[in-house]
Amino acid sequence: MKRVFSGFQPTGELHIGNYLGAMVNYVALGEKLGRDAIYCIVDYHAPTNPAAYDKELLRQRTFEAGLVNIAAGLDPDKVILFVQSHVPEHTELAWVFTTQTPYGDLTRMTQFKDKAAKLESVPAGLLMYPVLMAADILIYKADTVPVGDDQTQHLELAREIARRWNLEYGETFPEPQIYLNPNAPRVPGIDGKAKMSKSVGNTIGILEDAESIWQKIRVMPDDPARIRLSDPGDPDRSVAFKFLQYFAPPELIQVLREEYARRGIGTLAVKQLLFQEMMKSLRPIRERAAELRANPERVMDALEDGARRARAIAQATMEEVREKFGLLSPR
Ligand code: TYM
Repeated sequence: MKRVFSGFQPTGELHIGNYLGAMVNYVALGEKLGRDAIYCIVDYHAPTNPAAYDKELLRQRTFEAGLVNIAAGLDPDKVILFVQSHVPEHTELAWVFTTQTPYGDLTRMTQFKDKAAKLESVPAGLLMYPVLMAADILIYKADTVPVGDDQTQHLELAREIARRWNLEYGETFPEPQIYLNPNAPRVPGIDGKAKMSKSVGNTIGILEDAESIWQKIRVMPDDPARIRLSDPGDPDRSVAFKFLQYFAPPELIQVLREEYARRGIGTLAVKQLLFQEMMKSLRPIRERAAELRANPERVMDALEDGARRARAIAQATMEEVREKFGLLSPR
């Protein structure tokens, strides 16, 4: 049986990198699999990075993350959508895995190295982060994990943890496979360089104010060789074209590329079109988000029901783990 699991951090603003890299697949797989698609707002992951964590905002951000995903098309009557800390078996399994995971496997994780390098004091939780992530997935025995390619190394570790466990304690977990969006495995930032990420500050938010989105598109770097409108341009060196591929139909892009290359069209026109097409894609999500904001109990009901359903699965796995791991069960 296919079971899908994915998680996302309540970092405040979900951006179009999250949307194109992961959420699009959550919705598509959710349509296909119904309750075998499980999506989790990973609030226990958030405090592992003190640079991004704020105790005053976490609760609101957790709610927002649920709201945006429902607005983006996740149907909580079909899929399971819930908050990680509402299902305590995640952290329980994470501890069991922590005892079984070599320290060296964790210190070589590139995300750990990158984030730790920027911190004066590194919380042990940042190092353990991928173990908790493995527990998130394996507690549901999920075999398919839709994420962006920045999670590839963490997924490899989750497979390694499953493999090691199965060898030592008997076949229990599938080895989960990464499921990428081939069209957007890694969405770049608005500068066209590093991947889009809240911590870099190069994002376009799904619910960001339209004028603010336009201002970001307006200054996107262009082909530096094209100084005057009459110069030929290379669309592959224009950031606006990079983003256009996510939002505009291929036939239209082809025409624009040719026009741009033979200097028939200015950069501003390409950017205006990108803005229009992006807003067209985001509009339904933004409208549903506004509706949900007026009815917050719909989001809270969905998360509560999701946690109940998730917990039933997680408890069954945890019982099996306790038994195989040699823990005395309470009477
Ligand atoms: P997070 O919260 O950073 O991101 C949520 C999802 O968005 C994807 N993503 C991107 N995809 C393409 N281009 C980008 N620029 C981009 N930025 C973000 C991420 O790959 C992710 O799929 N460790 C995870 C959360 C997590 C998790 C899990 C995921 C915790 N437990 C279990 C899967 C399974 C993270 O920090 O994602």
